[in-house]
Amino acid sequence: MPKTQSKTKVNRKKIYFDDIRSRYFEFFKKRGHVVVPSAPLVPENDPTPLFTGSGMQPLILYLAGQPHPMGKRLCNSQKSFRAEDIMEVGDNRHTTFFEMLGNWSLGDYFKQDQLSWFFEFLTDELKLDPKKLYVTVFSGDNENKIPKDEESINIWKKLFAKEGINAMVVDLVTSDTGSKLGMQGGRIFSYDAKHNWWSRAGPPENMPPGELGGPDSEVFYEFTSVKHDVKYGKNCHPNCGCGRFLEIGNSVFMEYKKSANGKFEKLNQRNVDFGGGLERIAAAMMDNPDVFRNDVFQSLFEDIRIRHGWNYDDANESEKRAMRIVADHMRAAAFIIGDGVTPSNKEQGYILRRLVRRAILNAHEFNSQTSDLYVLIETITNAYKISYPDLHAKSAEIQEIFKEE
Ligand code: GLY
Repeated sequence: MPKTQSKTKVNRKKIYFDDIRSRYFEFFKKRGHVVVPSAPLVPENDPTPLFTGSGMQPLILYLAGQPHPMGKRLCNSQKSFRAEDIMEVGDNRHTTFFEMLGNWSLGDYFKQDQLSWFFEFLTDELKLDPKKLYVTVFSGDNENKIPKDEESINIWKKLFAKEGINAMVVDLVTSDTGSKLGMQGGRIFSYDAKHNWWSRAGPPENMPPGELGGPDSEVFYEFTSVKHDVKYGKNCHPNCGCGRFLEIGNSVFMEYKKSANGKFEKLNQRNVDFGGGLERIAAAMMDNPDVFRNDVFQSLFEDIRIRHGWNYDDANESEKRAMRIVADHMRAAAFIIGDGVTPSNKEQGYILRRLVRRAILNAHEFNSQTSDLYVLIETITNAYKISYPDLHAKSAEIQEIFKEE
């Protein structure tokens, strides 16, 4: 068990979510965007998904063409929850709850502005090293007559050239072929729809009639401290699972709709739907592949250290795994309860119950008396005091529900 009085120093900058969020909003406000509030985690007018899992979900009607009351340029930080990732939590990069920084063009700007702005935000505003950024684009879909995204390739080439980087294009197609072919000195990589097409339902063949989607272009940050692990394939490439590359932003060029006959038709307006994980952008800023090194999780780990004697900095992988599961699940549970869900045996309530129980189970690793685990909720709500005052105001209520469960 890690000792409380450890002197281990981990070399890291302090990165605050509040700071990244406000810099993102300021950056996009200067470019004509209106900041819209995050929608609740339980979708309001859409019974299909249990939770809001991306910033575009609440905007679907506006992406389809209905005028938005706040205009054509919007941005926000959307509370998001992906239940499908629950069993992945425990490694250094998966969380169930996350905040998605988003900006949208509802039939206004398109690829040129979007890719240039995001690159500028990362390199000029956040000061990420452009040499550590790699990008992917859509390689095209012959069956559905959707061409390769040459426009994005040309935009990226020019953006990298301005930074003195000669960006070579490599066609990788799938993760399997990507692993066979490897990096090949490339900077811009094209993949098929499995990686570079985005819709709520996934690739084109999974989209129901009426669903909107489009090719996307993702930006990856390279952690040079992570060496490729052949367990994930012979050669590394941006979509490799080894952890060397982390996706930090996805610009979806949402201009297609699947029609009733299964063919793809162009929408009347060309949209941009951008989503970038706040936790992941923070990890890139720290140049540390562990997304649990941000201010929110670190204050929670500090609380665990004080109360239970476990020190995250000195913990081995299995101890870290338990601490990450507790931290992730308790944060997710706090936000879900904060949005009005209570534990039950169905739908959102059932997912919440699973989170609470898995948190308690993993907390047994560092504390045999988990009955007082609920007090950690206060550390979480305090960490979000400025950005989510409603959550902070409900802290006692959330703790009560957690305690009862
Ligand atoms: N809507 C874009 C994304 O979730 O990546």
